[in-house]
Amino acid sequence: MTPTFTKTGDVEVLLELTCRRLEKVVDYPVTYNYVVDFDAGSLHVEFLRRMIENPSRQVNAFAEFKLSGFPGNTSFLVSTDQWVSHEYRNRRIGSVLTALKECLATAWGVRYLIATVNNGNDHELKLLANLDWTLVDLPDMPVKLAYHSVNRTTITI
Ligand SMILES: CC(C)(COP(=O)(O)OP(=O)(O)OC[C@H]1O[C@@H](n2cnc3c(N)ncnc32)[C@H](O)[C@@H]1OP(=O)(O)O)[C@@H](O)C(=O)NCCC(=O)NCCS
Repeated sequence: MTPTFTKTGDVEVLLELTCRRLEKVVDYPVTYNYVVDFDAGSLHVEFLRRMIENPSRQVNAFAEFKLSGFPGNTSFLVSTDQWVSHEYRNRRIGSVLTALKECLATAWGVRYLIATVNNGNDHELKLLANLDWTLVDLPDMPVKLAYHSVNRTTITI
């Protein structure tokens, strides 16, 4: 059983709010795309430049992430594929995306977000530690397990 990703007002509002937040960083209009894979129970979100003059023109995303349902238990959501374009790193976009994921998890009634992070990926590890994620060393594995208990009352983007 995996979470059902529906196109609800809440999700759209959260994505729009995130666009407004990201515009302050990248200094151009931002829009989003998202793809729901109902079979896999996953959601892929990307943020990209909104072309006001030519809205149909495709431009590359500058930030993205993926959330997937955990097989067999709707209390967990797995976060993967977080990425921020090189030119915008260290400007808190990754932190904003992670806060958004926490908001989405709250909207869907999820209790825990989980992820793995390569040992040595100090940037992502610092980002998650800043946002109070718990990092667990796994014996004989080159990755840490990262998890976050979703706090339903204090999340802001
Ligand atoms: C990891 C990634 C998503 C971070 O995105 P970002 O927008 O640059 O992250 P932020 O700006 O929010 O950075 C968060 C913190 O990391 C810190 N940081 C930056 N580089 C760092 C480094 N080399 N080592 C440790 N901390 C670092 C920042 O200073 C900031 O902490 P602070 O607020 O205490 O100063 C981005 O670097 C990326 O796309 N990397 C490649 C893909 C990847 O590794 N994804 C994660 C897979 S698990």
